[in-house]
Amino acid sequence: MTTVIINIKELLQVRNKDIKKIKGSDMKTLPSIKNAFLIIQNDVISDFGKMSELPDIKEDKLIDATGKTVLPAWCDSHTHIVFAGNREGEFVDRINGLTYEEIANKGGGILNSAKKLQECTEEELFEQASKRIEEIMVLGTGAVEIKSGYGLTLESELKMLRVIKKLAANFPIEIKATFLGAHAFPAEYKENKEAYIDLICDEMIPAVAEESLADFIDVFCETGYFNVTQTERILKTGKLFELTPKIHVNQFTSIGGVQVGVKFQALSVDHLEIMENKDIEVLKSSEAMPVALPSCSYFLSIPYTPARKIIDNGLALALATDYNPGSTPSGNMNFVVATACIKMKMTPEEAINAATINGAYAMNLSNTHGSITKGKKANIIITKEIPSYNYIPYAFGSNLIDSVMIDGMLI
Ligand code: NIG
Ligand code: FE
Repeated sequence: MTTVIINIKELLQVRNKDIKKIKGSDMKTLPSIKNAFLIIQNDVISDFGKMSELPDIKEDKLIDATGKTVLPAWCDSHTHIVFAGNREGEFVDRINGLTYEEIANKGGGILNSAKKLQECTEEELFEQASKRIEEIMVLGTGAVEIKSGYGLTLESELKMLRVIKKLAANFPIEIKATFLGAHAFPAEYKENKEAYIDLICDEMIPAVAEESLADFIDVFCETGYFNVTQTERILKTGKLFELTPKIHVNQFTSIGGVQVGVKFQALSVDHLEIMENKDIEVLKSSEAMPVALPSCSYFLSIPYTPARKIIDNGLALALATDYNPGSTPSGNMNFVVATACIKMKMTPEEAINAATINGAYAMNLSNTHGSITKGKKANIIITKEIPSYNYIPYAFGSNLIDSVMIDGMLI
C-alpha cells in the first residue's frame, strides 16, 4: 500500500536516521521542508522532499495537504494510563485548600488509586485504559510509555502490566511498559518499609522479568516516598533483570534522586520541578534524558521544570504528559507543547523537538519514531490549515489536528 501526501505547506522535523536526540542550542532548530511531499509504503516513511522533486510513482491513496502542516506524531514518554476510576473528589479537596501531600497523608493519592485498582478486574481495567489510548491517538500521540504502580501488590502489579501488554497487542500505537512497584508504600508496610523493598526486589521484579512484562523500571524517589538508598537497591535489582531505569525525581524536593538516576544510567530522569545547580551539573556527565511534565505543574500548581536553565546549560529536554488520575488527568500532548512555550519559555522549535525526537529517545525509540526520516514508522499528524507551526502552541485551546496517521493508516 503506497500513500502519497502532496502540497504539504511545511513538513516538520526532517532528520537523518543517526540523530537520536537533540540538546542545548540545537533544540532551537526544527528542520523542515516547505511545499513538500511525503511517501509512505505500508507502515513506513519511504521518501519525502520538495514538491518540485516529486517522483512519478503509482499511489494507492493520495492526500492533498494544501495549507496544512505535517509533523511526526507526539512521543509521550511518561504516563500512568492504566488506572481505575478517577480522583475528582481529591481535585475538589485541593480547590478547598488541602495540598497533594495532605491528601496523600490521609490515605488518598496513590493509595486511593491502588485500592480502586485492586478491586478492578483485568478486563475492566483494559476497557478503561482502551478509551484513554483511543483518546490520545486522536490527539496525535503515536508512541507512549505506560507505568504500573497503582497495584502495589505482586498480583495487582502483574495485572496492570498484563493490561499494558494487551493494549500493546490491540492498538497500532507503540507502547512501552514500565514497572513502578515503587510508587508508594502500601499502608500495611508503613512501619516496615524495608519489607516492601524486599517484596519488590525478591518477588515482584523476578516475576515481571519472568513474564517479560516490562521494558523499564521506575521509582518515585521523593521525600515521604522512596529514599535514595531504597531507590538504589531497586534500580540495581531491576538492572540485574535487564530492566532499564527511568526515574521520578525532584517533583517536590531535591534529595539526590537525579544523582542516583545518573549513577544507574537511567534512560530518563523525569519531573525535575525543583532543580538545584548540583542536579544540573550531574546531568551534564550523563546521557539520561531530562523529562518535563508541564501539565502536572499546571494541575497541581507546583513550579514548572526550569526548561530554560536545563537547555541553556547544553542539556536535552523531553516533554511528556504524566497522564494519571492524581496529578495530571490529561493525556493531551498539544496542551503540553503549548504550556511548555507559554509557562516554561520554550520556543515552539524546542517544544516540538522535546515532544517528538527527544520523547522517542526517552522510550528507546529514536531509531523508529520521533522524526520524518526514511525507514521510520509512518506516524504523523496532519494539521488543519494553519499560518505556521508557531500557531500550534499559540492557539493553545483549539484543536488544530485534521488527521492522525499511525503505522501508515489514518485513524
Ligand atoms: O508522576 N509523582 C508520582 N506519580 C504520579 C502521580 C501519581 C498520583 O497522584 O496518582 C506523577 O505525578
Ligand atoms: Fe509520573
